[in-house]
Amino acid sequence: MTPTRTSPGAGPTRFAPSRLLFGGDYNPDQWPREVWDEDIELMTRARVNTVTLTVFSWSRLEPAECVYDFAWLDEAIGLLTDAGIGFFLSTPTASPPPWFTLAYPEAMPVRQDGTVLSHGSRDTYAISSPAYREACRRIARVLAERYGEHLGLRGWHVHNEYGTLDYGPNAAQAFRSWLRARYGTVEALNEAWTTSFWSQRYSSFEEVRPPLITQYLDNPAHAVDFRRFNSDEMLAAMREQRDEIRATGSTAPITTNFMLPTWNHLEQWTWAEELDVVSVDHYLDTAGPDGEAHVAYGSDLTRSWAGGDPWVLMEQNARGIITADRTYAKTPSRMIRNSLGYIARGSQTSMFFQWRASTGGAEQWHGALVPHAGGDDELFAPVVELGRILEAISEVTEPPTGGPLHPADVGILWHADAWWTLETPSMPHDGLTYRDEVRAAHRSFWREGIATDFVRPGADASRYRLLVIPALIAMSQQTAAWLTDYVETGGRVVVTYLSALTDENQRVGLGGYPAVLRNLLGITVSELLPLAPQETVHLEDGSLVTDWVERVRLTHASALTCYQDGPVAGRPAVTSASWGRGTAVYLSARLVQEDRDAFLLRQAQEVGVGPVLPGASELGIEAVWRRGAAADYLFLLHHGETDAIVWGDGTDLVSDTPVNSGLRLEAGGVGVVRVATATGLEVKTAASFEKYRQT
Ligand code: GLA
Repeated sequence: MTPTRTSPGAGPTRFAPSRLLFGGDYNPDQWPREVWDEDIELMTRARVNTVTLTVFSWSRLEPAECVYDFAWLDEAIGLLTDAGIGFFLSTPTASPPPWFTLAYPEAMPVRQDGTVLSHGSRDTYAISSPAYREACRRIARVLAERYGEHLGLRGWHVHNEYGTLDYGPNAAQAFRSWLRARYGTVEALNEAWTTSFWSQRYSSFEEVRPPLITQYLDNPAHAVDFRRFNSDEMLAAMREQRDEIRATGSTAPITTNFMLPTWNHLEQWTWAEELDVVSVDHYLDTAGPDGEAHVAYGSDLTRSWAGGDPWVLMEQNARGIITADRTYAKTPSRMIRNSLGYIARGSQTSMFFQWRASTGGAEQWHGALVPHAGGDDELFAPVVELGRILEAISEVTEPPTGGPLHPADVGILWHADAWWTLETPSMPHDGLTYRDEVRAAHRSFWREGIATDFVRPGADASRYRLLVIPALIAMSQQTAAWLTDYVETGGRVVVTYLSALTDENQRVGLGGYPAVLRNLLGITVSELLPLAPQETVHLEDGSLVTDWVERVRLTHASALTCYQDGPVAGRPAVTSASWGRGTAVYLSARLVQEDRDAFLLRQAQEVGVGPVLPGASELGIEAVWRRGAAADYLFLLHHGETDAIVWGDGTDLVSDTPVNSGLRLEAGGVGVVRVATATGLEVKTAASFEKYRQT
């Protein structure tokens, strides 16, 4: 018999399971039945308490239209439940079965070049196809009716990584409706899209098409609106499934997994408002040391999208780091440090893709918690160790009753519009991406051990002493007014090159860049000057610049430093203007990372913001506060190479030892210290600690 929820709990506003959730995508339908018992045994050994089921199981769940097969899933859920293992249940709509695409060929996505895609992979759906949407609603409802009140259900995982763009007839029709709602009249659209250029003027909405491949450059406003439309359209599809699930009475929290970092098809701030809990899939994109900064970036973004609340890491890779042409090994120590890195910044889970490495199929070489070598291999030992650690630190899941989960004084502005605008072709420098610019700013603070949040334009930013605006290229008057208010009331903004070059319709403001911010910043930029690939420029303070400089004229700002050489030698490079009770700083030059670090550190110091644990980042130790209900926790992730000692008033939960006489943090190791609020800790290398103790 299926256990059911006895008391319907409301979908939580803060996702706070009683312990950290540990596990991953589990696909029993891809394995013979005899493997399932071993799965349960290994899960129990590793203290796995949660799996994600049915992410791509549509063809097994509904082998023919409206014909369902739940026997295998009932049995798998029964085994899991008996072992005390809960599950996220996914609606399998990211991978429509072959019968569906043959019956409804109009539901196949069309590429920008007009190619109609075929089934045989995954994510082949036209999001605006009525037949597809209907089939999605149906399978969501049927699953929710059957499993929606199951006691083991930890949450609904709607779809998987929404992201297929469709340029076909279904999309064309839906895009036109979206444009009608946005612009009202075709004249307003013509104005917003500057269609007088190249004779693109539309006489009716019927003439508008998705931005299919055309002879030469796209209209940038057309391209960006299509991306916005797609995000809204996929959100509407997600909402339909969510509402079907809710209509059955299921009260389990509902999420859909976002994806970082390489592509971005969603405007996540709006999406997050529609979810009970925000979740993300995060994969390292480098095998180098920057991977750790990347974990922090993904975590800070996701927590920020979640409004500062706890969130779910739905997927990470257990052993591999997949780059363009090969997969590098992820060491066990890195796997554990990364897992704690997400949790330090608000994740309530450590979930992986996937539980068991596949023998066949497209991702047979993708790492998994259980390797091809099997659960008795030494490779499984770190998984067991992670399970132990997660159980030992589980008390961190209870969020504080007031105040932020992750205190930060620095905010970084983030909006998908800037990503999409910078992707339009024929920018002054097509090599500069929003992703790289935002990460460069975030990386600087991470390297200095300074906590950061991401901020939605227009949000309440009063708790941040410093707001950094990297490359927010398309900026509305409203966003500019909001920034001006922020500075007027005492905040400091640092605006970088590539910001506010256009309004929200990708139209350049006249009179000099960055049009809507000129007044606040006290400068006018008359010329954008991308550098040649190997060209460098110096600033008078010694900083090195690549890729981008600008011709800046001061109006009421003063220069903090000037260009020493290059095309605008002698002109201001970094400026500062007082405005109301605050300060507006402008960076016109693309500083190399080390000089950007120093510049942003100075800005933080000037407003009294420092590292979480002074001295830690110099030793390669990442120190992160996570606040809890009864205590605060200092996560210590040692990415460096020399053993260190941390001491103060608290207890390390990983080793269950008090730290007042010194906690040894081995290179590559982790600690999670429960401390009384505001209690200071100190850190030194192990060698200097010995000397310190003797004096
Ligand atoms: C995504 C998907 C998973 C898997 C991983 C591989 O995140 O959700 O199903 O394909 O990528 O990295």
